[in-house]
Amino acid sequence: MVNGGGAAEPGGVRNGTLGETAARPRAGGDGSRPWASTGTGPAAPRSAQPEAGASGPSSGAGAIEIRDACKSFPHPDGTLVPALAQVDLSVGAGEYVALIGPSGCGKSTLLRLVAGLERATSGRISLDGRPIEGPGAERGLVFQNPYLFPWLDIRGNVAFGLRARGRYAEGKDLVDRYLELVGLGRFGKVYPHHLSGGMAQRAALARALINRPLVLLLDEPLGALDAFTRMNMQDEILRIREEERITMVMVTHDVDEAIYLSDRIVVMTAGPGRVETVIPVPFPRPRARNTPDFLGLRGRILEILNFAGRLEEPAYQI
Ligand SMILES: Nc1ncnc2c1ncn2[C@@H]1O[C@H](COP(=O)(O)OP(=O)(O)O)[C@@H](O)[C@H]1O
Ligand SMILES: [Mg+2]
Repeated sequence: MVNGGGAAEPGGVRNGTLGETAARPRAGGDGSRPWASTGTGPAAPRSAQPEAGASGPSSGAGAIEIRDACKSFPHPDGTLVPALAQVDLSVGAGEYVALIGPSGCGKSTLLRLVAGLERATSGRISLDGRPIEGPGAERGLVFQNPYLFPWLDIRGNVAFGLRARGRYAEGKDLVDRYLELVGLGRFGKVYPHHLSGGMAQRAALARALINRPLVLLLDEPLGALDAFTRMNMQDEILRIREEERITMVMVTHDVDEAIYLSDRIVVMTAGPGRVETVIPVPFPRPRARNTPDFLGLRGRILEILNFAGRLEEPAYQI
């Protein structure tokens, strides 16, 4: 069992990054959050003081605590198959954490637990000290496939969450702001089938961001993009993060992407899925992908994944 949120972990890096951006205007303007929380009770504003009982680097709005979380799924033969075992991880407010590991090690399951789409078999998962009991608009989710609604134009797609919650009238200015933020300001009237993969993924980001989430959960969001679009989108995500000051947890298979983007990298292994180790990335941004530090860390992570020796034996059955 690994504690992924030790007090010595990269608060300095994170605080340094955020310190530079704290004064920037947010795309959402006044900081109000036009959503009603469902899963974790009333949400605190981002500037809120830590909850009573919350402490350490993960205090504040958008801090995730995962304590001893286990998740098993029923197998057709009647047994329970463990997908995640005793995961401990703290993600600080505004922190960028990457989850990396072989297929089947439970990365998506962990993200779905935080999203409230699955319940942990045992253990505790909370946001800002409140247990996560279901989905909530304060936790946005973006998948590898952007899943845009083909019958709606991009504006309609981005506005969907506002309309669904009856908030469109008060929040429709946000649609333009978020379209601008993701670089789609001129494409609001375009339909999804006319967009490139990168543009569609930008629209999916805007659709998630318009709910003003405290936490953005990204499940291999760039996995379907070509290498150049992918690198451009990595910069877009960093830019959006600076503007939104949002907690981000991203699943990726790409070690370079994890190092380029994150404050910490959680290396997971399968059999059952668990946290192998948590690696701080102390390099200042913007990061160059070819420095000795970058390449050294890359080698170390690849070594950990191979040394773990579980790659040949996936925990899942097809
Ligand atoms: N709904 C489900 N029912 C049964 N087994 C599942 C379900 N979701 C995930 N699993 C199993 O849990 C394990 C982890 O899956 P997943 O979280 O998707 O892994 P990853 O995202 O790391 O590839 C796998 O063995 C997978 O087969
Ligand atoms: Mg997955």
